Amino acid sequence: MTGLQGAVVIVTGGASGQGLAATRLFAERGSTVVIADWNRTGAEEAAAKLTADGTPALGIQVDVSDEAAVAAMVDATMDRFGRIDVLFNNAGVGFSARSRYAMASVVDTPAEDWDAILAINLKGPALCCKHVLPIMATQGRGAVVNNASINGLVAMPGADAYTAAKGGLVALTRVLAADWGPRGVRVNCICPGGVDTPMISEILHADGGREAAAAGNPLGRVARPDEIASVAVFLASDAASYVNGVILPVDGGHTAL
Ligand SMILES: NC(=O)c1ccc[n+]([C@@H]2O[C@H](COP(=O)([O-])OP(=O)(O)OC[C@H]3O[C@@H](n4cnc5c(N)ncnc54)[C@H](O)[C@@H]3O)[C@@H](O)[C@H]2O)c1
Repeated sequence: MTGLQGAVVIVTGGASGQGLAATRLFAERGSTVVIADWNRTGAEEAAAKLTADGTPALGIQVDVSDEAAVAAMVDATMDRFGRIDVLFNNAGVGFSARSRYAMASVVDTPAEDWDAILAINLKGPALCCKHVLPIMATQGRGAVVNNASINGLVAMPGADAYTAAKGGLVALTRVLAADWGPRGVRVNCICPGGVDTPMISEILHADGGREAAAAGNPLGRVARPDEIASVAVFLASDAASYVNGVILPVDGGHTAL
């Protein structure tokens, strides 16, 4: 795909799942890859592997909900590579039993969990955009891809803070696309259905869980991480040079029903 050779790409949440798959695909297309994740070891190991394979890469620990940490991540990227062409706003917390936050109805969600989920899944991408968009605008070129969820498009009761955050990210995408398009920056959003990553591994490995997660999906299965990452890479590339403000379900047809 055009436009990614030599591009500097930041992938938040790049140490696992869809983000990790995206770092590999960007590397295959000749990009320089910054892996930003609150899992320091995971980010550093993923970056070391890319570097060993010949891709310029940097692993950075960041909590995307912490503005000082986000600013430091952007500064470190600029110091090392001098530009930022792509931001894949992918970090998020969700359904895993290992998640420390309630995935529940609003009635059963402690207020502090509501705040934390919104802080990571909505304020996080906003903070990354706050610090990256002006750099892209100065360059006159850039692409942001936000990773929301079909939860942001259709009601799935039982994860209300997550749903609200992802719906907010969908809306944020549209306003940023309108605001920054005139400055040469495209902002788009993908909305995956179920994806086989650590985020939902407990669900998938529970008895009948994989079948339940795919129930009603026309393709009859959950996605592989690379099937989402490849769409993010497309939206980041010049192959999508006239695509801006799009909210793209990548869900096997789940939301078509
Ligand atoms: N797996 C699914 O079924 C599914 C479906 C739709 C959308 N999503 C979204 O896709 C994105 C990627 O999730 P995944 O499925 O690859 O899950 P994952 O758990 O495998 O990866 C998420 C990554 O984000 C990192 N992260 C979490 N909070 C962070 C923070 N505050 N700062 C920095 N990094 C942080 C984690 O350390 C992890 O490496 C998430 O935004 C998620 O909400 C997932």
